[in-house]
Amino acid sequence: MCGIVGYLGSRDAFPILIKGLKRLEYRGYDSAGVALISQTNHLNVYKVKGKVSGLEQVTEREDTSGTIGIAHTRWATHGEPSQVNAHPHVSASGQLALIHNGIIENYNVLKEKLEKKGYTFKSSTDTEVLVQLIDYIKESGKLDLLTAVRLALREVIGAYALAILDHNDPDQIIVARKSSPLVIGIGENEFFIASDATPIVEFTDKVVYLEDEDIAILRRGEPLKVVDFSNVELNLEVQTIELNLGQLEKGGYPHFMLKEIVEQPDCIQDCMRGRLHVEDNNVILSAIIDHKEKLIHAKRFIIIACGTSWHAGLIGRQLIENYCRIPVQVEYASEFRYSNPVVGEGDVVIAISQSGETADTLAAVELARNRGAFIYGICNAVGSSIPRSTDTGSYIHVGPEIGVASTKAFTGQVTVLAMLALTLATVKGSISESELKEILEEFQAIPEKMKKALETNDQIASLSKIFTYARNFIYLGRGYNYPVALEGALKLKEISYIHAEGYPAAEMKHGPIALIDTEMPVVVIATQNSLYEKLLSNVQEIKARKGRVIAIVSEGDDTISKIADYCIELPKTVEPLDPLLTTIPLQLMAYHIAVCKGKDVDQPRNLAKSVTVE
Ligand code: AGP
Ligand code: GLU
Repeated sequence: MCGIVGYLGSRDAFPILIKGLKRLEYRGYDSAGVALISQTNHLNVYKVKGKVSGLEQVTEREDTSGTIGIAHTRWATHGEPSQVNAHPHVSASGQLALIHNGIIENYNVLKEKLEKKGYTFKSSTDTEVLVQLIDYIKESGKLDLLTAVRLALREVIGAYALAILDHNDPDQIIVARKSSPLVIGIGENEFFIASDATPIVEFTDKVVYLEDEDIAILRRGEPLKVVDFSNVELNLEVQTIELNLGQLEKGGYPHFMLKEIVEQPDCIQDCMRGRLHVEDNNVILSAIIDHKEKLIHAKRFIIIACGTSWHAGLIGRQLIENYCRIPVQVEYASEFRYSNPVVGEGDVVIAISQSGETADTLAAVELARNRGAFIYGICNAVGSSIPRSTDTGSYIHVGPEIGVASTKAFTGQVTVLAMLALTLATVKGSISESELKEILEEFQAIPEKMKKALETNDQIASLSKIFTYARNFIYLGRGYNYPVALEGALKLKEISYIHAEGYPAAEMKHGPIALIDTEMPVVVIATQNSLYEKLLSNVQEIKARKGRVIAIVSEGDDTISKIADYCIELPKTVEPLDPLLTTIPLQLMAYHIAVCKGKDVDQPRNLAKSVTVE
């Protein structure tokens, strides 16, 4: 959610900042801005409502010189998206410029206090309060910027990643973080700041991830220094990032989302590499082996996640309960954290998050850890906050996901959850050799079968034209495919803005069936598995009410094809792995309908890639 970029060095800062903001566009935003200290020592601030390209236009004839600068894309939480509310915000003294990601929860109290001291506010943001607070502390106490930042942050309740410039000191940027991500890139006599590593990779692979309540001082000609609120200097852990630029570009595809859908066979291969050993009839997730006693003897597992990751969690529950016979509950992180949950010693919490930065999931992890639970993370973004706050975990290794609508991360999460369940079942002895063999052989074949599933692309593209103007959609599935129905509906909602509902197929008759008429497209996931016959009856019920059925079926199905209006055929696989295939046509359908409607597929309205506020 929103993006922060900063540069301090000997190059021209502006092009680096703009490029960085573009790399962060995928995170979602509504306005953009930049602050630079120019060669002639002016503090220049430019802001626009809308896209980074708009910021480029506005600055075309302006002075954008300078080797120090900060830039921001805002995702409004306090105050509408507008030029005035866009960051950077400048202090009353005109000397400080600040960008911020997150929420200052006690901004009202602080604002009242500052108003009494004579401060006035131009914007409706919580962020402006912060820059004025720092300004007030600095000016009234005649303090240096670092001291003022330290003292101000002690008064702040909330979440922040921030960067601040002082016009009087063109050689320094101060940054700080709490519950919002911030990475510092270290080059040769230069520093880069960003919300994640994507704007940094082309300049340096050496980074420092800030921890909560770290304040970093970036000073020209000096090494990076990080202190805590009491000014005690902290040790730095410089890490090497393994991203490459190709992973961050569209590579000839019109949209990142399509690229990421098509990449899935390779991603799943990467995710399984070194973990799946079909020849030895074995699957090894090292985190499970390392903590096997704790995991085998867990009272129960609690999966916490949001959105698509929560849907993967629902599949995880079935996998773990089926193969490990350990009870599992799946919770929305946002509900879990405020429900005073019964959680503690003996519980294993699995936190699933693509970005590793989702505020609700992170807070739920902290709550569960404080109450004594053992925390296992399943994340994609290496080095992000959630993996750093868990006891152990497994990365899904599907590479950076840029499209706001999650696709390859979902199949990666399901793959890791399946490997987790099978590893644990093996060490626990709750799965037979022969059953394991059957699943592992199928697992190995999944990337090839995914490629076949992707061959439905043209058929789905033409089908999507028929349904472009539908106002509603229903998605139905049972068993392992019920969460896939939820996920299919979410994808359509997110990028095409068509209202869609996912349901367990048999729940239809308890209410939603009232919605069925000739106008209602119903996507039914009806591949051949143990619930196939049951699903067939559900399809008959819809057809009897003249609903329009789009059925996702197994190759060679000649029963549903006679009843459904449209059929999309997929290769067969074993039931627990079916979601890895059935998800693909639903992703493609959401994609093509959104394209037909001319929507912004990669950056849908109102959405952000990582939801770093609650
Ligand atoms: C997925 O398409 C969504 N944009 C969203 O639901 C997402 O899955 C959710 O915000 C959780 O994100 P995370 O996996 O990064 O924690
Ligand atoms: N709360 C701040 C605002 O509304 C920052 C939002 C963001 O993270 O972009 O301006």
